Amino acid sequence: MLSRPKIGILGSGKGSNMVALHQAVQEGRLDADIALVISDVQEAGILEQASKMGLKHIYLAPGPYRTKLDEQAELSYLQHLQGAGVQWVVLAGFMRILKGEFLRVFHHRVINIHPSLLPSFPGLEAWKQALDYGVKFTGCTVHLVDQGIDTGPIIMQQTVPVSEEDTPQSLHARIQQAEHETYPLAVQKALHSQLKIQGRLCTAEEAG
Ligand code: GRF
Repeated sequence: MLSRPKIGILGSGKGSNMVALHQAVQEGRLDADIALVISDVQEAGILEQASKMGLKHIYLAPGPYRTKLDEQAELSYLQHLQGAGVQWVVLAGFMRILKGEFLRVFHHRVINIHPSLLPSFPGLEAWKQALDYGVKFTGCTVHLVDQGIDTGPIIMQQTVPVSEEDTPQSLHARIQQAEHETYPLAVQKALHSQLKIQGRLCTAEEAG
């Protein structure tokens, strides 16, 4: 039987990826325990969803900056995650950049999902960037978080076709469906195979 690593989920939005991860845990597709859900937004849907699902959850103030945690907030996030015994941090729509001490403590153990096929369209509203550019395929990418923005080693990707009728909303919805399939698979892979990171490359070996 596979061990059950503890994961902490960080999110700022509606939390649909967290729901998909929770469902995968319930259905035995993801061998992990969701030990804690943290949001930097007090009224975020992700906290409401976590409450409905009976998951331990907390709002932690992010400090004065708009795009990152201040030093004190970063410490408090770390303390709560470590206090809950978290081994892997899974970002599910967390709208702040994690850096420095956080990434040192959870080295190669912070996972993110991004709504495009990286390295195309990093940053905000990636589905809109894809539509504006005119690509025929986009998708989602699960990657390890490094010091850059959406630049870390890629664990898994899924393609999504773009149709001529798409609006930003319809394309985003289709990408989110792909995210909900891919994220549990990718997290399972990260947690239960030996990830080998060589520069940008991330390969997985079956754990012995
Ligand atoms: C997802 O589209 C993800 O790719 C991005 O933020 C969004 C979060 O959505 N990083 P949700 O809160 O999981 O519904």
